[in-house]
Amino acid sequence: MEWWKDAIIYQIYPRSFQDSNGDGIGDIPGIISRLDHLQELGVGAIWLSPVYPSPNDDNGYDISDYKNINPEYGTLEDMDRLILEAKRRGIRILMDLVINHTSTKHAWFEKSRRRIEPYTDYYYWAPGNPDGTLPNNWTGFFGEDCWQWDDVRGEYYLHLFARTQADLNYHCPQVLDEVKDVLRFWLDRGVAGFRCDVINLLWKDSLADGEKRLALTGLEHYLSLPETHGILRQLRKVLDGYRAFTVGETVFVTPEMARDLCAEDRGELNMVFSFEHMECDQRFIKWLKRDFRPKAFFECLIKWQKELPWNTIYLENHDQPRSIPRFGSNSWWRESGKLLATLVLTLRGTPFIYQGQEIGMVDFDFDGVDQLDDVESRNVNRLLSAYHVPEGLRWRIISRTSRDNARTPMQWDDGPNAGFTTADKAWLGVNRNFHFINLADQENDPDSIWNWYKDLAKLRGEREVLRRGDFLWLECTHRVFVYRRRLGAESVTVALNFSGRPARVGSRGRLLRSNYHRDGFDGRLQPWEAVILEDV
Ligand code: NOJ
Repeated sequence: MEWWKDAIIYQIYPRSFQDSNGDGIGDIPGIISRLDHLQELGVGAIWLSPVYPSPNDDNGYDISDYKNINPEYGTLEDMDRLILEAKRRGIRILMDLVINHTSTKHAWFEKSRRRIEPYTDYYYWAPGNPDGTLPNNWTGFFGEDCWQWDDVRGEYYLHLFARTQADLNYHCPQVLDEVKDVLRFWLDRGVAGFRCDVINLLWKDSLADGEKRLALTGLEHYLSLPETHGILRQLRKVLDGYRAFTVGETVFVTPEMARDLCAEDRGELNMVFSFEHMECDQRFIKWLKRDFRPKAFFECLIKWQKELPWNTIYLENHDQPRSIPRFGSNSWWRESGKLLATLVLTLRGTPFIYQGQEIGMVDFDFDGVDQLDDVESRNVNRLLSAYHVPEGLRWRIISRTSRDNARTPMQWDDGPNAGFTTADKAWLGVNRNFHFINLADQENDPDSIWNWYKDLAKLRGEREVLRRGDFLWLECTHRVFVYRRRLGAESVTVALNFSGRPARVGSRGRLLRSNYHRDGFDGRLQPWEAVILEDV
């Protein structure tokens, strides 16, 4: 049964969701206390960002023990209770599987650096060159070199991400056995599957120098190599025993690569997160001036809808700025928030909603770099300072791109710290706008973004055409996107106006939904209007 084709999946960033013990940090009992909220939204599964023990240099994506729970978040018993309580509400739990690297605090690394067998080759170690240069010229994802010297071992180790995230070496067969064991550990406890972190980078074919590039020199030595597919097929054999689900985070993935990763007969992943649509505004200039071009975005969505039989649909996660300021408009906050919800819940594929998206949370309103936590932003700041980029410009670049934009605590109500914690201070600043963007207010407002998400999730559940129907685009201009979903005799059209000016479209039909109050539809869309029409 492919439950994931009918479900809406909700991502929780545990540190920022709900604190239950007043330490300013979200935790698992906090998540349990909010399960009713997710049930009300109509969520079928939760993807939990990492909850394993971790020194938190990259907030849990640097794991120091795969078979336990970070004490800041609770205990294994709390996790078992979460799985059970979620199940009672018809919600499955997906864990984050981070197996490209571990924390340098992981016991495997501690033993590897001391050359204790069988751990000696669990990581990529290299001696460096006689002329004192690093083992190769690769550059990493967080704006630094990829090599770090280790005094204990007397060698460098490879890290594609932060210095404390050492890459695991899959040339060493025991590493894969360890990972299979980790999968079984959690599947036996009842999790329904995994979101697999940077999963298309696992295999490094050699440590030779890479072709020089502006960013990520060395990429050709590890991006989506055939051996990585082989590893995924081996993992899938374990997963299949539990009928578990996997979604891969796959960087720089093309539709062809995605097809190879997800084709049913290849037995690798169920679906992937691609990034192309998220990069429509990622040219350097956008860091200085927001430059979102809806037409390029629509074309990209169309391409992916056409080229893959099924995939993820998402606009937000813990690594991306919020979607309203990015693809919508803060000035048309409510309208554009609902329009983006309509897009996510009516395209063909599995919708992923990131915490806070359902109430239209927007980017942080911090005042300076010292308020940021994100390791990537701090590295970028260091790098730009080294190049003498003036502070104002640096802040502009960082505040536009920082991952902390999406990591501020969930805004539950307009009480202290937005109802996230009873501590004086949350681990990361609460956005000051919580007085007017919070769940409690929106629950009482029939026109709220929250009620729109709930309503559309329900509509999607009721109308099979919205879940399983095929996709056909009808209009794609510099601001209007119109498409049709069709299943047998049933057909529904969605028309979206991605602009602050009225627009006209050719489609007509019986009005099912509009984010404006109207009785019928004559082809005229209001600013940021979204309509769903039943084709008659
Ligand atoms: C992708 C994760 O989503 C991100 O948060 C993390 O920093 C990197 N992978 C490294 O694990």
